[in-house]
Amino acid sequence: MATLKLSQLDLFSACRPETLAELEAAVRSRRLRTGEVLFREGDPGDFMFVVSSGALSVSKGVGEGGLAPLRTMGAGDSGGLTSMSLGRTRSATLVALEPTTILTVGEADFNRLLSNRPDLSQSVIAHLAGKVRGKTRQLAELKAEDTDGRTRVAFFDTKRYDRSSFEAEAPDSLAFSFLEPKLSTATAPLAAGHAIVCAFVNDQLDADTLRLLAGQGVRLIALRCAGTNNVDLPTARALGMDVARVPAYSPHAVAEHALTLVLTLNRKVHRAHQRVREGNFSLAGLEGFDLHGRTGGIVGTGQIGRCFAEILRGLGMEVLAFDPFPNEAFAERVGVRYVELDAIWARSDVVSLHAPLTPQTHHLVDRKAIESMKPGAMLINTSRGGLVDTEALVEGLKSGQIGSAGLDVYEEESEYFFEDRSDQVITDDVLARLLVFNNVIITSHQAFLTREALANIAATTIQNMKEWLDGRRGSELSNVVEPN
Ligand code: NAI
Repeated sequence: MATLKLSQLDLFSACRPETLAELEAAVRSRRLRTGEVLFREGDPGDFMFVVSSGALSVSKGVGEGGLAPLRTMGAGDSGGLTSMSLGRTRSATLVALEPTTILTVGEADFNRLLSNRPDLSQSVIAHLAGKVRGKTRQLAELKAEDTDGRTRVAFFDTKRYDRSSFEAEAPDSLAFSFLEPKLSTATAPLAAGHAIVCAFVNDQLDADTLRLLAGQGVRLIALRCAGTNNVDLPTARALGMDVARVPAYSPHAVAEHALTLVLTLNRKVHRAHQRVREGNFSLAGLEGFDLHGRTGGIVGTGQIGRCFAEILRGLGMEVLAFDPFPNEAFAERVGVRYVELDAIWARSDVVSLHAPLTPQTHHLVDRKAIESMKPGAMLINTSRGGLVDTEALVEGLKSGQIGSAGLDVYEEESEYFFEDRSDQVITDDVLARLLVFNNVIITSHQAFLTREALANIAATTIQNMKEWLDGRRGSELSNVVEPN
């Protein structure tokens, strides 16, 4: 016992002093010469041991008489527990690599101690559980690379267009798994064996889901969108996971969709189209107004808001804008006037939302904002559903305070948007009510959906993954998202 004390071993770390004393009494010390075999694969497993000093090679038989080295055991490592407790033969051959001393406890003595000393049983269970956890993690990390050495990426909530745009850009270093379910605690186990998860706007990356992903070996969350409101960023950081996004893929795609909603609502193209198809060529009720000379109010003058401002200016509209970080140079160049939010509500014929969803912008358009709007104003939301209190919007539409609404996003969209639910009834009463208004257009979060935007999303997302594979972490990643 000169070189090693039993109490220092993880295996016996929870044992009481009297148990350790009994163990010491049962321990036999044995010296092995270099090259001496401790036991061979297939021998009976009738003792457990701890390496006190020296080193042992662990090998398994392969082919005819061959031995494949698995690992080396050194001082403090223990073995023989599993074959002894399972009543099976040795699963490997152990040979001393140098003069080695081991401490052994025979099966009968060990079993007697286990029965009499609950602290020993607990200590052994805790030790084995720790080993199992370590192996599970190793396995997850190993599985995260396929046999060609490629890193595996699990894509959640994928559609055909995701698959084709990402496959067109796929590098040799990555292996893609395209999964249809949205990411949540229920589906997180599907990410087992993938180092990277690629998620979209309605995937749930809350604390519980992130913990499950981390436990499966996931190290990078590569968002294939701009918004990050669905990710618990502080938890991701605490778990040592990086989060990257696609900050801009085509502001034009979203701004042009906002314009589509404005023009369709104003000139009632959706209704005209239905009528004409039914053989009804009447114009009654299809009256619109000239946008030229009217006022557009833009909330959020980031990439998309600025693009939309230029479009409205191109139509000959006055453009007012609100942003906590105004871009004066842009405003001057394009002829946009920054005003307070109240003035946006009070003076705009068309209000368009382009701010991110944050705790500060949640229900930015609430009952009070709607009441202070110009009667009959048009509301466009291509940003995030949570910016609008939808029940207040329904009231505003019923009273006529809101003249029309074009919504590409909806607070509770994750249940419906992107899916074919045409064979089911809509159980969301607010959504169902919105769909009944003939002056409301809802599109299913499709503003981003242009060929150019899809190609840019795939290219940037893959670039983010490659940077991470190159060893860049945290702020070294070009498009990292960090908690505030
Ligand atoms: P961006 O980050 O370039 O611009 C956001 C702007 O909002 C910034 O100028 C910021 O200062 C401003 N802002 C922040 N807090 C604000 C507040 N309380 N009130 C007013 N403005 C505020 O983002 P980008 O690319 O222009 O996108 C805007 C939003 O559009 C994204 O957050 C995303 O939610 C949404 N989006 C929707 C898509 C769709 O398919 N419907 C596609 C892409 C983005």
